[in-house]
Amino acid sequence: MSFSQKYHQLPTFDKDAGDHESLQRKDPRKRRSPFLVIAIIMFLGASIPCMRMARSRAFLSACNGPQRNSSTLANLPSHYTLPSGDKIPSVALGVWQASQGEVGNAVKTALSTGYRHIDGAWIYRNEEEVGQALKASSVPREELWLTSKLWNTFHAPEDIEAALDQSLTKLGTDYLDLYLIHWPVAFKEGTTVLDEDLTADPYPTWQKLEELVDRGKIRNIGISNFNIRRIQNLTANNLKYQPAVNQVELNFWNPQPELLQWSKENGLLLEAYSPLGSDKQVGKSLSVPEVKDIACKLGITPAQVIISWSVQRGTIVLPKSVTPSRIAENLAVFELPQEDFERLETAATSHTPQRVVNPSAGWKLPFDVFDGQ
Ligand SMILES: NC(=O)c1ccc[n+]([C@@H]2O[C@H](COP(=O)([O-])OP(=O)(O)OC[C@H]3O[C@@H](n4cnc5c(N)ncnc54)[C@H](OP(=O)(O)O)[C@@H]3O)[C@@H](O)[C@H]2O)c1
Ligand SMILES: *[C@@H]1O[C@H](CO)[C@@H](O)[C@H](O)[C@H]1NC(C)=O
Ligand SMILES: *[C@@H]1O[C@H](CO)[C@@H](O)[C@H](O)[C@H]1NC(C)=O
Repeated sequence: MSFSQKYHQLPTFDKDAGDHESLQRKDPRKRRSPFLVIAIIMFLGASIPCMRMARSRAFLSACNGPQRNSSTLANLPSHYTLPSGDKIPSVALGVWQASQGEVGNAVKTALSTGYRHIDGAWIYRNEEEVGQALKASSVPREELWLTSKLWNTFHAPEDIEAALDQSLTKLGTDYLDLYLIHWPVAFKEGTTVLDEDLTADPYPTWQKLEELVDRGKIRNIGISNFNIRRIQNLTANNLKYQPAVNQVELNFWNPQPELLQWSKENGLLLEAYSPLGSDKQVGKSLSVPEVKDIACKLGITPAQVIISWSVQRGTIVLPKSVTPSRIAENLAVFELPQEDFERLETAATSHTPQRVVNPSAGWKLPFDVFDGQ
């Protein structure tokens, strides 16, 4: 059972994309002779460990164009500075769909590998295990960056503090570095019935968050899944604190160049969620020819190419993994040479955009949450 089935309030996925992909992978193998199957198995057996190695020479030899030694690549910024002056690490561990019994080890691995930024949420229902892992690690609280998100059922000003307190208690901390309005969608308390007023106008929610900043329970506040129209509606109010970030889906399939450009012009930092295309599309993302070719040339992995591209676009990036080798791999970002960066940007922005996360239908909303820009 998928997480979105277990928690019906969560984003639902474009199942067709995933199923289609797995069919494509399975079909050709059925038609092959037993010898070919054995040959393929032997090839896969030999190549999978290589692919896992960040700097496999075997793969470099198949590259298009000159190859580089990845140790000559420059590093990308490790932090961005928010309007508050706080420095937020540019790569976080995402913990959505990191299940019970898994997420704690993922967080421990991440912290020992050098991550300091964990992107969580009340609705992920794993904040307690995340908190235990934080406690078990020896990283001082002031070195950590903890993000959580206000769920749709708690947008009413009188409900916000109790929801925040639950996250704080579970995480074992007395403040969050960043608290986001998870979706620009408010449900009436304990239901999935739309609260039309608080959905149309999130300012009362925002004012309560501003108060919680002043009372020291949150250091920075931001939004998630807001389009330009909704941001402008919120910021047309006389805000005490501007949104520090907007966390949105940004990946090869949905690169949102207009939102990125607009956000830069308006001084709003974006956080890239589902950077690898989420679990349904990660295989497809890592097989994009441009991604594979750049990886090969630079001596880094396809995932590192995509994550590096995300930071180089000027966004924070939130890859999720519960696999130790991948957790380590995903933190290592490099500056792609300009021609490679541009080639990937062009490839990403040249096809019809396709979102992986859109809960509008699952929530039976009378509108598409991303409509109108
Ligand atoms: N604000 C929102 O509404 C919202 C919505 C979606 C996501 N998010 C945030 O963004 C984070 C990331 O998004 P996501 O979880 O949807 O997707 P993602 O990070 O794009 O993809 C995660 C998938 O990629 C696999 N993976 C990770 N690193 C890999 C690597 N180096 N090589 C091969 N496979 C790799 C993971 O597998 P394993 O785990 O099995 O290794 C998992 O199946 C979430 O955890 C959450 O924090 C926020
Ligand atoms: C890459 O460069 C580093 C440092 O310049 C060097 O130590 C290493 O041997 C090189 N690796 C390859 C595969 O050429
Ligand atoms: C935001 O939009 C709502 C709904 O249209 C409207 O009532 C509200 O006045 C808008 N806020 C501002 C500051 O324009």
